[in-house]
Amino acid sequence: MKITHVSAECYPVAKVGGLADVVGALPKYQNDLGEQASVIMPFYDLAFIAKNKFKKIDEGKLKLADREYKFNVLQLLNLELGFELNLIDIPELLFKSYVYSSDDTERFMAFQIVALHWLGKQTQLPEVIHCHDHHTGLIPFMMQHCDEFVAFKNIPSVLSIHNAQYQGWFSYEQIDLIPAFNEEHSGLLDWYGNINPLACAIKCAWRVNTVSPSYMEELKIAANGLEGLLSHEADKCIGILNGIDTQVWNAATDSYLKMNYTVFRNLSGKKANKKWICDTYDLDVDKPLFVFIGRLVYEKGSDLFPEAFKQVLNHQEVSILLLGSGDPETEQGLVDLKDKFKGKYNAYIGYNEELSHVIYAGADFLLMPSRVEPCGLNQMYSLRYGTIPVVRSIGGLKDTIVDVEDGGFGFTHSDTTVEQMVSSIKRAATFFKDQKKFKKIRRQIMSIDHSWNRSASVYIQLYNSITN
Ligand code: ADP
Ligand code: GLC
Repeated sequence: MKITHVSAECYPVAKVGGLADVVGALPKYQNDLGEQASVIMPFYDLAFIAKNKFKKIDEGKLKLADREYKFNVLQLLNLELGFELNLIDIPELLFKSYVYSSDDTERFMAFQIVALHWLGKQTQLPEVIHCHDHHTGLIPFMMQHCDEFVAFKNIPSVLSIHNAQYQGWFSYEQIDLIPAFNEEHSGLLDWYGNINPLACAIKCAWRVNTVSPSYMEELKIAANGLEGLLSHEADKCIGILNGIDTQVWNAATDSYLKMNYTVFRNLSGKKANKKWICDTYDLDVDKPLFVFIGRLVYEKGSDLFPEAFKQVLNHQEVSILLLGSGDPETEQGLVDLKDKFKGKYNAYIGYNEELSHVIYAGADFLLMPSRVEPCGLNQMYSLRYGTIPVVRSIGGLKDTIVDVEDGGFGFTHSDTTVEQMVSSIKRAATFFKDQKKFKKIRRQIMSIDHSWNRSASVYIQLYNSITN
């Protein structure tokens, strides 16, 4: 089946979070199952783009509201990603040294229109168009209701919701960014008086999925205003748990690691990564190492870290290392702790892909006290690298982590509070003292299979249910 994924992010080209990891892996696994999956994304001014070669396969001019923009369509040439990668280059709008910005309404509107135009010129149209998040949310509407895209009218579309907090809404004053459409369908664009691309995609896509089953149920109760809509559209909605790319996330071959390791031999490679981290970040290698990797935003519960870490570090024999960036107040609070807890705590404020791999490998425990977690990939990477997750049971975390007290392999708590976070860390630190038990669980989690194999075929079944 010819499947086209449309996304703002795709690893390794452009990554802000887990969306990139999913779009950089799922098509590859679908191709391994015999499908013909490809990706279309914007062409940004990022390091990956500068290092690689692209062939121009189309060019033209786009009329967007009252302005005209030149565009090119480029194809990645020199690197085998496991799927064909096509990029929409609109120099005046998309080619920035970052992925998202304040003029995203124009940027992603232009991206979606050019992507559809280019797809429409192909001798064989896609059999399914798979849109990811709100940046591609107007595609299902345009396919059905815009005169210039009439060729797509009967082609099924799927929307994956990776995060319903962000919906991309904009005012009716900008309605002329959308190509001409039959006005009787204008209600499909609307959600509470604004044009809401995510709501519109939920209404227009043939199937909608969230990236874990629990998140779908949670969204029907609270979805930043879309809960009623998701309940109303429940018949076409499903939760499909993300997988991970076990070719990239493989401790035996990961070239970022200081030493590779496998579950079969003794785990001295894991220890070597921990030693490197502790030497580099001035931490005690003999204490249990707790880490956090991620965006410092409210959803991740990271605003509670400064207080929780203070309480833990004052009373517990643990080391803590954090890698992340985001909310400036949280960043400052985390930096301020460094002087107070020298030798016990450190923080790297910023984004560092290579370091993240070493941390997953070298840590003993990974913290994820998320308030909202549509799926979460970090906990699956950490399982695979033998690092025990300490999580708030929500969304995908609820679907993947079972507490040791319930016969499982992680530490879970029910709410995102300082008290519960501290208590879970204490439980985990106590558990660490029984090295026999700790090592047994570590081996057990490394063997859990969260690769994309299973979910890639669930998506194919979903496509099959809407194609002939
Ligand atoms: P989200 O997409 O909500 O941020 P996920 O758990 O799905 O959460 O995915 C986050 C991805 O981004 C993971 O691959 C994680 O390792 C990576 N990541 C997040 N913050 C950083 C950072 N500061 N440096 C390196 N990698 C990061
Ligand atoms: C989003 C979610 C995260 C999920 C990722 C990939 O960014 O916040 O939980 O894992 O998308 O689907």
